[in-house]
Amino acid sequence: MKKFVAIANAAAIAVAMTFSAGAIAGDAAAGKAKAASCAGCHGAAGVSNNPMWPNLAGQKAGYLAKAIKDYKSGARKDPMMSPMAAPLSDADIDNLAAYFSGL
Ligand code: HEC
Repeated sequence: MKKFVAIANAAAIAVAMTFSAGAIAGDAAAGKAKAASCAGCHGAAGVSNNPMWPNLAGQKAGYLAKAIKDYKSGARKDPMMSPMAAPLSDADIDNLAAYFSGL
């Protein structure tokens, strides 16, 4: 019985964490580690210094993840972004989205 309660609590916490982060349950610390390759264009803190490159800092995680997945799938195409998105896994994308949305 005790064991069941512990498992039920763990499940409840996992569900709560998933919902509190919205649809995206990314790991921002892991995202930060992956974000080094993004800084050249999107800025070290997610704020770009080029008028043609968008800021990512503070953007909604769900939007960021969708945008990157769209570049990866080809639904959205850009000569600079498509090759950046191509090698990312879904977990990488969720982590990057969590990181940039929290800046
Ligand atoms: C070589 C420059 C370059 C690099 C490096 C780069 N990006 Fe981009 N990114 C762009 C450009 C340019 C756009 C706008 C493209 C367009 O008009 O669709 C863009 C768009 C985006 C968007 C969509 C923003 C929006 O508001 O719709 C996201 C999200 C994004 N990049 C994430 C990333 C991530 C994450 C990385 C690192 C893995 C990265 N980018 C690396 C140039 C770059």
